[in-house]
Amino acid sequence: MRNLENAARLTSAAVAPATPVSTLAEDVHAGLLSRPRSLPPKYFYDDRGSELFEAICRTREYYPSRTEAALLAAHGREIIEYARCDHMLELGSGSSRKTRHLLDACDALGHACSYWPFDVSAQMMLDAGAALVHDYEWLSVHALIGDYTGGLDNLPLPSSGRRLIVFLGGTLGNFEPGPAQQMLEQIASLMRDDDQLLLGVDRVKDSATLEAAYDDAEGITAEFNRNVLRVLNRELGADFPVDSYRHRAVFDREHNRIEMRLGAQKAHRVTLPTLDTAIDMDAGEEIVTEFSHKFTPGSLAAMLQAAGLEVNRHFEADGGAYSLVLAGRQS
Ligand code: SAH
Ligand code: TRP
Repeated sequence: MRNLENAARLTSAAVAPATPVSTLAEDVHAGLLSRPRSLPPKYFYDDRGSELFEAICRTREYYPSRTEAALLAAHGREIIEYARCDHMLELGSGSSRKTRHLLDACDALGHACSYWPFDVSAQMMLDAGAALVHDYEWLSVHALIGDYTGGLDNLPLPSSGRRLIVFLGGTLGNFEPGPAQQMLEQIASLMRDDDQLLLGVDRVKDSATLEAAYDDAEGITAEFNRNVLRVLNRELGADFPVDSYRHRAVFDREHNRIEMRLGAQKAHRVTLPTLDTAIDMDAGEEIVTEFSHKFTPGSLAAMLQAAGLEVNRHFEADGGAYSLVLAGRQS
């Protein structure tokens, strides 16, 4: 009986892109067949990739996740008291592990709201949703399955009620500056006067700390990075020799970003039968698989300001290691 009641509070819906989203084949064509070679990051997150990302968050070196969790635990009540949201929409929610701090704050304040996680990784989100409706008996979860790069216009959100849009994990930093700005503008256009955005971004700091966070000693990040080649092998029938690629994370201080790369250790030809083509990789040649941009208080404020948002609260980890901002539309 109990399980049935819980299941009734978890629903899911596929979200169709409002603007066309490129296919894997198109992305591989555009990214891998030209130099410098690159791939867009969303292909990391198949079921295995999502599990590996969770494991990255448990490594000693990957401080962003636990730092952000600590900020949410410390300031969750203030965030919920300020936002007084009826609906919490989370972009790239993954396992929703850190979101629990916000739900705990709702619990403590006796403030009920509904939760709308939005992610491409359906299995991870549905498993998380089932656990959430079990653990929070007042909560309803409406899982939205889709690609947020296709825009936020088609989300089946209720038209009334206050919204809190949650975008954590420094994921905005995985976009290049232009697309990051557009993404923030998309978010701003979903917001009405009383709505808030809770955004978590990582901060510029010393290269050693940053590079270690993206190259843990156990090699979990390396395996996560290489997993994208396994996705290509499976989805496109490609034949990347996955284990002969070396993972590298380099901090580029000019652009304030970590660049994740995969380097071919020997020259080889990769065939892409479904694209009817092949790629000749030279020994040492690299594929850029992900950027993770790091912000300063100034660059963060400028980006929010340009999207028509104003900061209402700024929670910083000790020494400015990480920023969590609560922002609303400019009045
Ligand atoms: N918010 C979580 C997870 C961050 S990892 C945390 O902070 O720990 C990034 C998440 O975004 C993954 O769950 C991934 O599946 C999702 N994601 C990546 N690209 C996406 C896209 N284009 N559309 C929707 N979700 C995406
Ligand atoms: N949003 C995460 C970040 O930029 C994603 C991430 C963490 C990641 N570790 C990674 C992406 C390693 C690629 C490779 O911190």
